[in-house]
Amino acid sequence: MVKASYTVALTGAGMSAESGIPTFRGPGGLWTKKGEPDIRIYETFLDDPKSWWGSRLWPTDPDTAAFSEALESARPNPGHYALAGLESAGLIQYVVTQNVDNLHRVAASVRLAEIHGNRFKLRCINCVARFERDEVSTDKLPPRCPHCQGLLKGDGVMFGEPIPRDVLETSTEQALLCDCMLLIGTSALVCPAAGLPATAQRHGAFLIEINPLETALSIICDMVVRAPSGEALPRLLDRARAMREDLAGGR
Ligand code: OAD
Repeated sequence: MVKASYTVALTGAGMSAESGIPTFRGPGGLWTKKGEPDIRIYETFLDDPKSWWGSRLWPTDPDTAAFSEALESARPNPGHYALAGLESAGLIQYVVTQNVDNLHRVAASVRLAEIHGNRFKLRCINCVARFERDEVSTDKLPPRCPHCQGLLKGDGVMFGEPIPRDVLETSTEQALLCDCMLLIGTSALVCPAAGLPATAQRHGAFLIEINPLETALSIICDMVVRAPSGEALPRLLDRARAMREDLAGGR
């Protein structure tokens, strides 16, 4: 990674597990408890956006309410800060995250694509403009886009909803650009994000997985770190800085 010229991190729910946000799959995962959501959720939203907004603002299901509460109150963990540190040290060039929790941004990652959106934003399904959640009144449901009057939804990508073209293009472009990709805290089961490592590898990238458990992609990775990201990434930052100094000293 230290020798790579362009490193991209692909992150998933495991990255925020140490911030108290449950993952989706595996022990204690939201989908493990409730089952995977219906693929027609986006269609249901389009049919009756007012009801969707009602259940978002006032969730009645206890698991969903607890998950929302965890997202609202979470703070970045040492892994998020270390990843931002790797970026500011020039050792990581881009982060593509599947997480909607905003924690990379709070930890000061700058070059970031949120391929599944951001919970704290709203998005117009017509003109794709995004707004901070607090900028838009929800007194009248469903809220409308201040620019074009299109329907507003949460920026988080729903099951059955296409990934917005801008983030999909950026994420694919980053996978094609990198010569090293870190796969951090993702089960790598949900496409198109799960396809990015293979795309990167086909174009010559070295793949490093950071995950306490084996995943669908472990087998194609060039290196595997079996540890929680909140421990592995701060160690990686320290070692990468030290190795870079050694390389610079030996030049
Ligand atoms: P998953 O819940 O599928 O996988 C979480 C991964 O994190 C697993 O491989 C765990 O082993 C790993 N993990 C757990 N604790 C960890 C830790 N402390 N450090 C590092 N890794 C840890 O989550 P995602 O792969 O992100 O999409 O799921 C992808 C998408 O599926 C989500 O974005 C979401 C979901 O449906 C949408 O909602 C659109």
